[in-house]
Amino acid sequence: MTPNENSISIFPQADLVPTPYRIESPIEQRQYLIDGVIKEWTGPLQDVLSPICETVHGGMQRKLIGRYPLLGEEQALEALDAACGAYDHERGVWPTLSVEERIRHIEAFVYRMKTQRNDIVKLLMWEIAKALPDAEKEFDRTIDYIRDTIDALKDLDRISSRFVIEQGVIGQIRRAPLGVVLCMGPFNYPLNETFTTLIPALIMGNTVLFKPPKLGVLLLKPLLDAFRDSFPKGVVNTVYGEGQKVIAPIMRSGRVDVLAFIGSSKVADMLKQQHPKPHRLRCVLGLEARNPGIVLKDANLELAIKECVLGSLSFNGQRCTALKILFVHRDIVEDFLTKFSDTVDALTCGVPWDAGVQITPLPEINKTEYLLELIEDARAMGATVVNQGGRVHHTFMYPAVVYPVGPGMRLYSEEQFGPIVPIVPFSDIKEPMNYITQSNYGQQVSLFGSDPLVMAKLIDPLVNQVCRVNINSQCQRGPDTFPFTGRKDSAEGTLSVSDALRVFSIRSLVAAKNTDENRHIIKSITTERMSRFLSTDFIF
Ligand code: G3H
Repeated sequence: MTPNENSISIFPQADLVPTPYRIESPIEQRQYLIDGVIKEWTGPLQDVLSPICETVHGGMQRKLIGRYPLLGEEQALEALDAACGAYDHERGVWPTLSVEERIRHIEAFVYRMKTQRNDIVKLLMWEIAKALPDAEKEFDRTIDYIRDTIDALKDLDRISSRFVIEQGVIGQIRRAPLGVVLCMGPFNYPLNETFTTLIPALIMGNTVLFKPPKLGVLLLKPLLDAFRDSFPKGVVNTVYGEGQKVIAPIMRSGRVDVLAFIGSSKVADMLKQQHPKPHRLRCVLGLEARNPGIVLKDANLELAIKECVLGSLSFNGQRCTALKILFVHRDIVEDFLTKFSDTVDALTCGVPWDAGVQITPLPEINKTEYLLELIEDARAMGATVVNQGGRVHHTFMYPAVVYPVGPGMRLYSEEQFGPIVPIVPFSDIKEPMNYITQSNYGQQVSLFGSDPLVMAKLIDPLVNQVCRVNINSQCQRGPDTFPFTGRKDSAEGTLSVSDALRVFSIRSLVAAKNTDENRHIIKSITTERMSRFLSTDFIF
């Protein structure tokens, strides 16, 4: 379906939804996991409304697909008690297990998780309208991430199983857990980004509380049993409900040691400030970004357009790494606009299970209204929608290419997180460079050009403004072994498969003067395997 066609048919009749993807009746989730027990909630529930609309009494409305528990402060603190109890000042069962044993628990969990693929993929489609191949990719990428995490931990542990002798001191340095971790992922990757903190936090011996994002909650339900059965009690605990009610008391308790949060800097600041001893709280934060694409006049236009369309409109632009503004050199901007608009207008619009679909409905409440406001604001200041997009049908918006965007417009500075591509013409490279310097964000940039010397002169200042410069390629997080971070308001801490293991642990060591007596003690401990920490055991 393209913008020329009738938008009413974006949403399917109920009987046209393919059988494997149907939700016949709302999923009523009353279960939540605390202290190894799946409890039944009898209190209020939150309706889950899909971004996929259905016809009701002649009008269109979001389909009700389920409900989840709105827990209160009492349950939130109960979950916290369970996590603290299971950690027990690093004397609990979980933090004292050997690395090999913890890996076995994670492997048991992955085995169970894989059996839930179909249900989770289906819910990713209904809850956040992620296209089927992307939903499958989110699931499979998460499984790969867990496997890679296990391998990275084995490598780390192998390095740590040796002794260092320096300046007459013998030392063995290992990584130890930090305590209780609160994990909160975002709605656009509710499974993957939650697990890219939850799994490393767990595998390093921490205990975890996790709260699903506001959207993308039901899809974690199929994993509750697997969490309960794969880990000792209290190691994984779930918290459902409104942040102010359930997260504020947890943070105010001062008993959370690590906050792993992917979301807005406003919420991250609020959570940090709620902790009574902020210096004790370690944070790993993935926050806003407004990654620009800069298209130089000698860029390979075909390649630049392909990457810019992917970068700005994959999952409707709802990626923190999305290209949220494009600076295009004036000498080529007309040509760029025509070809870019044609490519955008040719994108397939529809619902997640439609073959080849690229643009889908938007899950956030009132999102299309917000996006229309941004377009109106730009129009009032002289820009226009240069393609056939910008029209809205309930939760769906045809992607809009807005030109010329400039300072003062909301689209110049706000993170739209949706299917609008603002394009800014430039004559002097200083214009996009100043934009980046003055921006509050510093995650990534994409640079399109062909002259190595020109590119080199831009790469050097750019790597000091952002944390990844992509050459003739869209911005992205992957491969997951690469460091993923940002400057300014975009991130705190670095995530990658191996960095995450470091983020959720601290180096601790045993040291002794290199004397006969100490050597004898260390040798006896290691050969008799008396200690879990002081050990030369090697994981194969
Ligand atoms: O939303 C932010 C994600 O980390 C982006 O990941 O670049 O793989 O889509 P991605």
